[in-house]
Amino acid sequence: MNFVEWKQEYCTGIASVDREHRDLIELINTLHASLDHDTTQDQVVTVLNEVYEQMVAHFANEEALMQDAMYPAFAEHKLDHETLLDDMREIMNSITEEWRDSTSDLAVDLDRWFSDHFRVHDAKLHKLLK
Ligand SMILES: [Fe+2]
Ligand SMILES: [Fe+2]
Repeated sequence: MNFVEWKQEYCTGIASVDREHRDLIELINTLHASLDHDTTQDQVVTVLNEVYEQMVAHFANEEALMQDAMYPAFAEHKLDHETLLDDMREIMNSITEEWRDSTSDLAVDLDRWFSDHFRVHDAKLHKLLK
């Protein structure tokens, strides 16, 4: 069983958004699976960089869609994206040789942020289709 499972409540009905959400969930699962006593700091940083790059690309996609549709909650939604990226940068900067102490809850945190964002902000994007 995966650490994070896709939930129907995340579905926006926008194919590219839903695909990118699934990719992000898969990466969090990869990160979770990679965090064991043999994992090196470099390996953790590599996966985190991948998560960060996918986040940036995904948020850009969503923001372009929202702007095209003149989405009314754009500013609020974008602000949450920026907060997620800030948090992610903070985590990446905190990865040191003692990464196991600083990142023990990393996958849990990422899951919580994404799940909350998917549910609170992204799920409303289905309105773009109307
Ligand atoms: Fe999203
Ligand atoms: Fe979003």
